Amino acid sequence: EAQEEARGVALNGLPALSRALESCQRCDLCRYATQSVPGIGPDHAPLMLVGEQPGDQEDLQGKPFVGPAGQVLDRVLSAVGIERSEVYLTNAVKHFKFVSKGRRRIHQTPGRTEIVACSPWLDQEIRLVQPKLIVTLGATALQAVEGRVSRLGALRGHVRDGSATRPPSLATIHPSYLLRLPEPLRAQEEEQRFMQELSAARDWL
Ligand code: URA
Repeated sequence: EAQEEARGVALNGLPALSRALESCQRCDLCRYATQSVPGIGPDHAPLMLVGEQPGDQEDLQGKPFVGPAGQVLDRVLSAVGIERSEVYLTNAVKHFKFVSKGRRRIHQTPGRTEIVACSPWLDQEIRLVQPKLIVTLGATALQAVEGRVSRLGALRGHVRDGSATRPPSLATIHPSYLLRLPEPLRAQEEEQRFMQELSAARDWL
């Protein structure tokens, strides 16, 4: 039923999709998050980048990738010559999942239930935007787009063929992975590799 609801609103385009998302109760995350965070970008962007879920800042501001991971993403995108404004940016899960520790809110990885519950929204975004290529950032986005768990390590850097209903997709890491690497040299190497993988996406613009 909720899927039909998502399908129905999608007929009216991305703004209607965002409005419908505001009252989404498809899983429990809506009870604790400040707001849902819809995707952002041009209607028919050739590239769609899919992240995991809003973080603390995204939850407060209602926009994707405006926090620390977004800064890494911006840096890497501009280094490979992709304008943020020419891509459609969204997340596999539209509400922030966290646990409270004092005044801090600690990110929690969304589980299969939340990814599956949220998938009609992503499906509709894909149908409306019709990107030439989807870039999945990290394991959660990969799982959401593929519909099953696959090993990111084995798939990263590769473009997976599309189907009648799905554009081709390129798997790479999530930018926050770079923020978690304690070794500066290793982080630098991984950032280089992330750049290489993202630069392949530029050919689809
Ligand atoms: N991490 C994500 O996956 N998405 C965001 O929007 C922000 C951080």
